Amino acid sequence: MLQTIKETAQFIRAKVSDMPKTAIILGTGLGELVSHIEITEEIPYSEIPNFPVSTVEGHSGKLIFGKLGNKRVMAMQGRFHFYEGYDMKQVTFPVRVMKELGISTLFVSNAAGGMSPDFKIGDIMIINDHINLFPENPLRGKNYNELGPRFPEMSEPYSHRLIADALKVADEAGIKVHQGVYVGTQGPTFETPAEYRYFRRIGGDAVGMSTVPEVIVARHAGIEVFAISVITDLGGLEGVEPEKVSHEEVQLAAAAAQPKMTAIMTGLINEFKE
Ligand code: HPA
Repeated sequence: MLQTIKETAQFIRAKVSDMPKTAIILGTGLGELVSHIEITEEIPYSEIPNFPVSTVEGHSGKLIFGKLGNKRVMAMQGRFHFYEGYDMKQVTFPVRVMKELGISTLFVSNAAGGMSPDFKIGDIMIINDHINLFPENPLRGKNYNELGPRFPEMSEPYSHRLIADALKVADEAGIKVHQGVYVGTQGPTFETPAEYRYFRRIGGDAVGMSTVPEVIVARHAGIEVFAISVITDLGGLEGVEPEKVSHEEVQLAAAAAQPKMTAIMTGLINEFKE
């Protein structure tokens, strides 16, 4: 695995003049952020050795390098989901490569179902913790001490100082944000009413099908993480039957919340100390 990571990083390094320290995984609801990047290089996943190729509609699949505000960034347009059939090593491979390239901070976005009674569709939740309900941990198997410890500690999966910066950016922009716990599930089914209630009872505020694998691998490698969810549907409110959720509805709600998501991410990336 080490050799594979190195080979991929070498390929990317040869194509990029000025390697960033900051990376972004553009999930649902953050596609528009790309229009704020002064792009210097683009590499389609299909050209990158050892990279999986993304399949889901609405995810075009390339690495973008450029300037966002005052920072050089590397953005993943399109991510790999476990439900697509990739294994955990494939889902998280790009994060391994990020580490090898010298990335020290990772920003992630996703769409999620809201379970907190405080949430409305289109709201934004800064993730301050997660519960891993994927059937596997991406670190299962041989540990490479060069990449990180066998038993990584997870007391601060989401950087407190970046959350504080983001709250300030949101406040100054007049954008209301929540904080909460993200429950990561494998999907592709949305939750049954009982599952929503269960995830709420174990401490979840939102549920989605991504992010947790990438964050685990990033933290293992010592990369600082910030992640944000756009709440695209609601389930699990006590006493309320969840309504039907569809992929289209998720996409629509995420699109409507894009300006808020983009404002917070661009503001935060510009402000934070690299
Ligand atoms: N559940 C799981 N994943 C999701 C949801 C949801 O309700 N909404 C958006 N992604």
